[in-house]
Amino acid sequence: MTRLVELPEWRDLKQHCSEISKVHLGELFRREPGRAQTLSIEDCGLLLDYSKNWVTAESMRKLFALANAVGVKQAAERMFSGEKINVTENRAVLHVALRNRSGQPIYVDGKDVMPEVRAVLDKMAVAAESIRTRQKLGSTGKPIRNVVNLGIGGSDLGPAMAYEALRPYSDRELTVRFVSNVDGTHLAEATRDLDPAETLFIVVSKTFTTQETMTNAESARRWLLAALAGPSVAADPQSEKARKIVGSHFLAVSAATDKAAAFGLDPQSSVFAMWDWVGGRYSLCSAVGLALMIGIGPTNFFRMLNGFHAMDQHFLDTPLERNMPVVLALLGIWYNNFFGLQTHAVLAYDQYLSRFAAYLQQADMESNGKSIGCDGSPVAWQTGPVVWGEPGTNGQHAFYQLLHQGTKIVPADFIGFAKSHNPLGDHHAKLMANLFAQTEALAFGKSADQVRAELEAQAKTKNQAPRLDLVPHKTFPGNRPTNTILAERLDPETLGKLVALYEHKIFVQGVIWGVNSFDQWGVELGKELANRILPELQATNEPELKHDESTNRLIRWFRQRSRN
Ligand code: F6P
Repeated sequence: MTRLVELPEWRDLKQHCSEISKVHLGELFRREPGRAQTLSIEDCGLLLDYSKNWVTAESMRKLFALANAVGVKQAAERMFSGEKINVTENRAVLHVALRNRSGQPIYVDGKDVMPEVRAVLDKMAVAAESIRTRQKLGSTGKPIRNVVNLGIGGSDLGPAMAYEALRPYSDRELTVRFVSNVDGTHLAEATRDLDPAETLFIVVSKTFTTQETMTNAESARRWLLAALAGPSVAADPQSEKARKIVGSHFLAVSAATDKAAAFGLDPQSSVFAMWDWVGGRYSLCSAVGLALMIGIGPTNFFRMLNGFHAMDQHFLDTPLERNMPVVLALLGIWYNNFFGLQTHAVLAYDQYLSRFAAYLQQADMESNGKSIGCDGSPVAWQTGPVVWGEPGTNGQHAFYQLLHQGTKIVPADFIGFAKSHNPLGDHHAKLMANLFAQTEALAFGKSADQVRAELEAQAKTKNQAPRLDLVPHKTFPGNRPTNTILAERLDPETLGKLVALYEHKIFVQGVIWGVNSFDQWGVELGKELANRILPELQATNEPELKHDESTNRLIRWFRQRSRN
């Protein structure tokens, strides 16, 4: 392929960028009445208003031309048809099969994967219902009421985010928690008020080797066995007695069934399959979502899958110009690659989406945080942005100062809903007033003339001299780009659509940048070194340290201080 930056479409955009960068958003709105409608897409129950961006209809045409030139549509078709587009791991990328509600087959290596997908979903539904109806009993005969998901990264962030997002749909009599950190505090705090006899752990790990998850699983097993059978059984988790108890209080989700079996679980009844063609960060719709399904029930889980599928179809079938993931992706490319903006904020005005930005951080940064292209050579352009965010309105009282008046421009997505699950007084109108106010303020700002006039008017009423030295401080330059994404209500379908919207946005960006969005080699070195350092921290004799001078000193400091 011609190098991205040498494409005529890229060069054209570069030229166009220098022209558009001279025009303020306010001016774009003045010049183009009807802009808000032209630069909006309403589909799939979502409204995407992208008119408050540094683009004209012409800019969008040039961006779509770029998407066409790199073959975004063809790439999407390759993904949906099960081609092994994860080239470094020689795997298909088929999270769309997990929520394929069409009844159509999807093939990997000539085999339709849909029967297996459906079988696992059915098995999940049976397990979820048995807990939700309190028929699933622990080893002492008490019904299971507490579910603790033990997983990290994609085996945690998706279900944790979605469980929080869909709390209004959850069984409030069940306790569902998510433990990810290898810091023992996480597990200790999550279990301290739970009755072990009523607690089920779900060990979620595609590989079943992840240090954090396996450490938590072993500690959880010890905690459970010690409480239900005493310390001697806890010390021998492979004993028959221990395995029986573990069988009643543990489930596993993994692509490595043999390893889950070695942990003491029956592969038929207690292990839920995953497949190598599902990436961890794209696995929410697989059995990785089991804790979520237990919490919200199979019906709501399937509603979520329907939402995912609706957005998958939108992405696959809609022309680029009306394709929401494509538009978001191109705007991200526009800012990242042509204006040099390095971060992207996701600002959800819904408390239930409090984990959404954290979830998207992994989805986006682990996917596109790459500097080597699919062909193995370094890319000569910027790739994935730093993604971050907090729910509104909290962020307004924390970091929005920088968004409005800082020296950095942060493109942002604002997400909000017409209806609240908790219509308390006028809270929701206030929440949404803030969302709309922020995008307006960011785009249009407040001029020095306006500030001066206000200061003079205020001073006049107090019979004082106006503090005109404050004019520059109180001026808002505006011209800060934002997208607004609205939906009627944060329900299971909408959540599915939102997540799929971002998944496909990330995919499109990866295609344009020419990186493999589905591997994550960048996490390996830290794991490798931690495995080398761990015995050095634990050694009873002074170990010979062969790291750099700084790391050696830090290890010695820890060894000394942690013992006294
Ligand atoms: O280390 C990164 C990572 O591999 C993620 O990609 C993944 O979601 C997470 O670890 C957990 O992996 P697993 O499900 O195999 O425990």
